[in-house]
Amino acid sequence: MGPRLLLLLAALLPLLLAAAAASTGVFHVTRKFPAGGSGGGAASRAHDVSRRGRLLAAADVPLGGLGLPTDTGLYYTEIGIGTPHKTYYVQVDTGSDILWVNCISCDRCPRKSGLGLELTLYDPKDSSTGSMISCDQGFCSATYGGMLPGCTASLPCEYSVMYGDGSSTTGFFVSDLLRFDQVSGDGRTRPANSTITFGCGSQQGGDLGSTNQALDGIIGFGQSNTSMLSQLASAGKVKKIFAHCLDTINGGGVFAIGNVVQPKVKTTPLVPHMPHYNVNLKSIDVGGTALQLPTHIFDTDEKKGTIIDSGTTLTYLPEIVYKEIMVEIFAKHQDITFHNVQDFLCFQYVGSVDDQFPKISFHFENDLSLNVYPHDYFFENGDNLYCVGFQNGGLQSKDGKGMVLLGDLVLSNKLVIYDLENQAIGWTEYNCSSSIKIKDDQTGATYTVEAHNISFGWSWDLLNS
Ligand SMILES: *[C@@H]1O[C@H](CO)[C@@H](O)[C@H](O)[C@H]1NC(C)=O
Ligand SMILES: *[C@@H]1O[C@H](CO)[C@@H](O)[C@H](O)[C@H]1NC(C)=O
Ligand SMILES: *[C@@H]1O[C@H](CO)[C@@H](O)[C@H](O)[C@H]1NC(C)=O
Ligand SMILES: *[C@@H]1O[C@H](CO)[C@@H](O)[C@H](O)[C@H]1NC(C)=O
Repeated sequence: MGPRLLLLLAALLPLLLAAAAASTGVFHVTRKFPAGGSGGGAASRAHDVSRRGRLLAAADVPLGGLGLPTDTGLYYTEIGIGTPHKTYYVQVDTGSDILWVNCISCDRCPRKSGLGLELTLYDPKDSSTGSMISCDQGFCSATYGGMLPGCTASLPCEYSVMYGDGSSTTGFFVSDLLRFDQVSGDGRTRPANSTITFGCGSQQGGDLGSTNQALDGIIGFGQSNTSMLSQLASAGKVKKIFAHCLDTINGGGVFAIGNVVQPKVKTTPLVPHMPHYNVNLKSIDVGGTALQLPTHIFDTDEKKGTIIDSGTTLTYLPEIVYKEIMVEIFAKHQDITFHNVQDFLCFQYVGSVDDQFPKISFHFENDLSLNVYPHDYFFENGDNLYCVGFQNGGLQSKDGKGMVLLGDLVLSNKLVIYDLENQAIGWTEYNCSSSIKIKDDQTGATYTVEAHNISFGWSWDLLNS
């Protein structure tokens, strides 16, 4: 058992229930924010050398998937690993810190995916550039804040992560060549590579072991030194800035690493020294009316605070916030009758929800607002049937009870920029099927990065070009 195992203190409400008789199918939601609150990233320490002054390129991370509970409930990308390289599909998650893929040593890993993607098990012996990380190596002691007890040079460096939806992964760290798409012109890329350390997952639990939504692994875009972004940045390959635009209209969207110059976004500071993307939420209003909430609701500590997390499908609110928001949303619709479809509160409605229900605004430090429209916080499940995407966090794990966890539900159809160099995060409403402009530090030129939608059932190997 790896030392980073984060135990779930309370049983989680199962998020994926079998389809109810009357519904159209199973809803797909993921909550990849690590259980236990502090994803373990805090313990990691750097051994990496920052090479300032190197010329940094931008990267295009092609997206697929669609973050609606009625669709895939997640977004994924494809990466190349090894020599010769193979393609892996991994869920994109800003709430966790490591990249891992299913390993050859895993006998109960899914071989087929309900998403129609071809899955591949990673075999370090199959790659001329692959190697195991032993527990006496720098990466391991940096990750765990010192040498593990009983460590000898022949023992692997293990890892274990448990996620908020009850899924988990355990395995050991390996190092190999990662291939990614470097932006080389308007809408153009060329292959680039860097050696990185990532997890070889030998045992997956919960949802990660099932075929339904199976992918090859998860790519954590967290801030800790163990993330791929941090490793690429300390190798002098990229800037520690990335952006995503998750498209719920056409699927996929834009994901890029580098300095975004268009669109311009307003930002709010990240709360310092937190393992996740914590921001300071100041107030919430529904249809222009501010919710009257105790001010401590918005404090930040280990079990409280507001987190931006692309690996979570929905949005979880502390019970008191959830109840107030629901009262205000339905204040003018007292006649609506609700019924449960799986875990969701649903209702029949004929007409445009955008015309008849209020806009919700979350207001953050530095005067930045996040506007959420009825078509975002309700999702349609068949004809005239709408379900509420906000979830009562009070029904979730003990640790998550006091958190505002802002997932794809509210982050979609916006360009969200994570500027880790300036410790700020910002967003603006945007057409995620279009393109953004990135500045290339190597040439000083600005290049467009287009939206992608990696399709189901087939793959043009972008990394082969
Ligand atoms: C991460 O790496 C940076 C730069 O190498 C270092 O300054 C910092 O202390 C490291 N952070 C942690 C939490 O280990
Ligand atoms: C990795 O990138 C370097 C340039 O940075 C290139 O010379 C080398 O051929 C690449 N290796 C592979 C396996 O693509
Ligand atoms: C994008 O992919 C999703 C599923 O991944 C599919 O439903 C959608 O039709 C695709 N959109 C376009 C524009 O091809
Ligand atoms: C979004 O951008 C795409 C690609 O440029 C375009 O086809 C589409 O019409 C745009 N959608 C809206 C609502 O403007």
